[in-house]
Amino acid sequence: MITESPALENPNGIAPAGEMPTGGPIQSAITYEKIPTHIYADAKDASRAVAQEIASLIRQKQGEGKPCILGLATGSSPKTVYAELIRMHREEGLSFHNVVSFNLDEYYPMEPNSLQSYWRFMREQLFDHVDIPKDNYHVPDGTLRPEKVSEFTKKYEAEIEAAGGLDFQLLGIGGNGHIGFNEPGSLINSHTRLMMLDNSTRAAASVDFGGLPKTPRKAITMGVSSILGARRVVLLAWGERKAPVIKGAVEGLVTELNPASYLQTHPNALFVIDEAAASELTRMKTPWLVDSVVWDNRMKKKAVTHLSLTLSKPILKLTDRDYNDNGMSDLLAQYGQAYDINIDVFNQLQHTITGWPGGKPDADDANRPERALPAHKRCLIFSPHPDDDIISMGGTFQRLVDQGHEVHIGYQTSGNIAVADDEALRFADYVVDFNTKFDIKSPEATRIFQDAAASLRNKGDTEMDTAEVRYVKGLIRMGEAKSTCRFVGIPVEQAHFMNMPFYETGTVAKKPLSEEDVKITMALIAEVKPHQIYAAGDLADPHGTHKVCLDAVLEAVRRLKDESFMKDCWVWLYRGAWAEWDIHEIEMAVPMSPDQVMKKRLGIFKHQSQKDGVVYQGTDSREFWQRAEDRNRDTAELYNKLGLAEYEAMEAFVRWRF
Ligand code: F6R
Repeated sequence: MITESPALENPNGIAPAGEMPTGGPIQSAITYEKIPTHIYADAKDASRAVAQEIASLIRQKQGEGKPCILGLATGSSPKTVYAELIRMHREEGLSFHNVVSFNLDEYYPMEPNSLQSYWRFMREQLFDHVDIPKDNYHVPDGTLRPEKVSEFTKKYEAEIEAAGGLDFQLLGIGGNGHIGFNEPGSLINSHTRLMMLDNSTRAAASVDFGGLPKTPRKAITMGVSSILGARRVVLLAWGERKAPVIKGAVEGLVTELNPASYLQTHPNALFVIDEAAASELTRMKTPWLVDSVVWDNRMKKKAVTHLSLTLSKPILKLTDRDYNDNGMSDLLAQYGQAYDINIDVFNQLQHTITGWPGGKPDADDANRPERALPAHKRCLIFSPHPDDDIISMGGTFQRLVDQGHEVHIGYQTSGNIAVADDEALRFADYVVDFNTKFDIKSPEATRIFQDAAASLRNKGDTEMDTAEVRYVKGLIRMGEAKSTCRFVGIPVEQAHFMNMPFYETGTVAKKPLSEEDVKITMALIAEVKPHQIYAAGDLADPHGTHKVCLDAVLEAVRRLKDESFMKDCWVWLYRGAWAEWDIHEIEMAVPMSPDQVMKKRLGIFKHQSQKDGVVYQGTDSREFWQRAEDRNRDTAELYNKLGLAEYEAMEAFVRWRF
């Protein structure tokens, strides 16, 4: 664990001094946090701690000869906790024989064996792997007739009460603050009931249902009062998409608009979150307002850019008074005067801007983000999905090609699950019709497309794609990627389709990174021998694909680092369509003119299967080209607000040093 906030009794005051329970820095002197919050470097460490707490409780109850009553959650957040509990069951003899559990919610209507049912989720993620007796677990019933639901919800609450109430409630949090499916607007005294799902919840869930129209509109959920009735509540949140709502719940007012904020009223609640989900909390975002900090270069840049943007004043206009009035007098004391700090940070930012992402030949590169030599570099862009290269760094990709570098693209996954069935059927029919018309008899060619077309015609909403359908969908995306490469101007031999196996499950859930994935990545790096590697460092991707792809690249680079060709290799990280680097983190910013922005848009348009109501839209209704343009424009605007030159758009990169 890296930091902990003071206990609830002391919401805005001075924290009790003392060591952290598991080490790490001294806790903050002042807190803005109204719910005890533990921040961990990553979800794995955090999940281990939560699983430990649950295991201790189960064992304690066993010692007392009592049942342990758990309230359980589904979704992506608790998966790592359940995995750790299963490990403890297998390796440490943790028994679940005295566990009685009640799940928070279930979609309605929902058959228990559907791919998306929470009943199935719980069995696959936990129950089938431990010794909990079959009669001891309860998940709301999604198969009830409407007139039976109300009776059921009353009975569900009565059963919890009869069991003695919840000893422990595990929660995730929706991007809109929901706990269980208590959507914004839910009252603090709400009971277990049938709820209409919020649009944003449906959009997030549509990832599992293959599109919004197929996503349920209702769910049965435990009420807020049932959740608050638990003797202990632990809420989990991972990833930066949760950061704004976590800030609201932990530091904001108690409001029905963010139901997780009700946990401020609970005497024994805890938030366990990773650094990314914590990134909007005051102690992470502006730590100098909370405690004394070490004013290293990174902190200085973070604080000065933040001050400038907060006061809407360009950096070079910041005064001593601005620093003093905004909790930065110690920085001032250390450096003497605002003028010196301003110039220093301004110059650092200025030096991140370059129109020469591959280095400017024959120029002094002392203050440029990239080396001038070799003048013609080999660049390897890793693109997790077939369109991330153009969406996230299309302007830079184009400049590298135009400036004479040898650019290769490693398309890491096939991206096949993101093609709509209808789109795939259109292509399969096209090939079948063509083969029929010209009497093409290659049995394999005919079979694949006929099977794919037949399967797509008969496919139910919740069924997985067959191997043939996945093949057709992968082919569609490969064609689109090749089209982008032609458009930007690289030969098709420089597009490498890696088809990493971790991705090929046919469902949204992917396998973990395997040795084979790393080997494929190493082989491509060894083949290209790049001077520059670009990789997607975007951890906010809702499917986790970017994270696995990044892990593969970083692991491959670590293993290859002693090879002679790696001595001259720099790794740059770009972000995907979901988020941008914080301004103080950016080490290379590549500007784009209005024409370049337009050209990038046309490059993104090559990915036709990802336009017009794409399958995995997520909660953002903008198309990918719009997200990319908004984001690149925002980055340029930030630079401009800080007092640097005004560009139309900018792509941003951070260097990873191995
Ligand atoms: C699940 C549930 C929901 C989820 C929330 C976050 O039983 O009740 O409140 O916890 O939607 O989901 P993930 O963890 O997938 O981000």
